[in-house]
Amino acid sequence: MTKKLLVLPGDGIGPEVMRETLRVVEWFQKNRGLSFEITHGLVGGASIDVHGVPLTQATIQAALDADAVLFGAVGGPQYDVQPFDNRPEIGILGLRSGLKLFANLRPATVLDALVDASPLKPELVRGLDIMIVREATGGIYFGEPRGIETLPDGQQRGYNTEVYTTNEIERVTRVACDIARKRGNRLCSVEKANVMDSGLLWRQVVTALVAREYPDIRLSHMYADNCAMQLAKNPHQFDVIVTSNLFGDLLSDLAAMLTGSLGMLPSATLGAVDARGKRHALYEPIHGSAPDIAGKDLANPMAQMLSFAMLLRYSFGLADDAQLIENAVAGVLAQGLATADLSLPGAKRISTTECGNAILAQLELLAK
Ligand code: IPM
Ligand code: MG
Repeated sequence: MTKKLLVLPGDGIGPEVMRETLRVVEWFQKNRGLSFEITHGLVGGASIDVHGVPLTQATIQAALDADAVLFGAVGGPQYDVQPFDNRPEIGILGLRSGLKLFANLRPATVLDALVDASPLKPELVRGLDIMIVREATGGIYFGEPRGIETLPDGQQRGYNTEVYTTNEIERVTRVACDIARKRGNRLCSVEKANVMDSGLLWRQVVTALVAREYPDIRLSHMYADNCAMQLAKNPHQFDVIVTSNLFGDLLSDLAAMLTGSLGMLPSATLGAVDARGKRHALYEPIHGSAPDIAGKDLANPMAQMLSFAMLLRYSFGLADDAQLIENAVAGVLAQGLATADLSLPGAKRISTTECGNAILAQLELLAK
């Protein structure tokens, strides 16, 4: 059956890494019998340039109509002059809230070929496989009240609100638990229950939910600051981590760096399954728009390709096809080919386009 795909390359290196990824999509259509109806759209700065806003109602509608959204990256220094509520980042934040994509899945896995690219000692990261489930439509990113106000004495005061309801905590925890069951069955819930009321509620709700619905899961709790330390000290202790929007943003960057390159990691952001069994979902690399290297054919397209692999796995249940892409990525690295972001000793440096070529060659080889 033909699946509707909305492609939003965005800004910076987004269009380059998306271009190479679309070659992979094309390969799957030709060689694996998959069929996609692809619509292209603008988001972030690219949308500001044309429409004056980072996300149009039409793009939100196209995303709602699609079976899955493949997203690149947004932002760039030329948009620093934009008013705060019209900055490129609103593109991704608006899609998360507009499609109610509350569960952001951020894997941090270390491929054998990249063990030496990690800034940590090899023995700390070899075989690493962590899944961070970050809440993505609540917390301090969206909480009210928020704003900047002028006080009677002329000072200004900026404020945001960290807020979570029982339902918000439960639904993201369920996603994390379902994933944990398919992995090591361990879940670490991360908050600051020692100082924050919302953190205390988070801990209570997670504890009750897991006891009630997932008694088989081994649940632990950790304060977010300690979690940051533990991720750097002994990352292997983690299987699945579930945490708030803000802590997940920070901890997923840290976890990503453990793997040697932000340029390698994909993510999925999922909504609830509706009555017809459909679930809105958006897939994007964790890396940003990297304006400093944009347009130079230097960027690593692997995270975007691996995001497409996650799309196949989570939106369409095509685990074998997803695995094929993951194997192709591993295969290219094992050949000693790497883009500039990977500090792989002895590797031959390849461009974005050459990386696309190498991935397609690997796919051909693997599919034989
Ligand atoms: C991320 C990014 C975004 C976030 C920005 C671009 C709004 O850092 O996806 O981690 O903070 O969520
Ligand atoms: Mg981030």
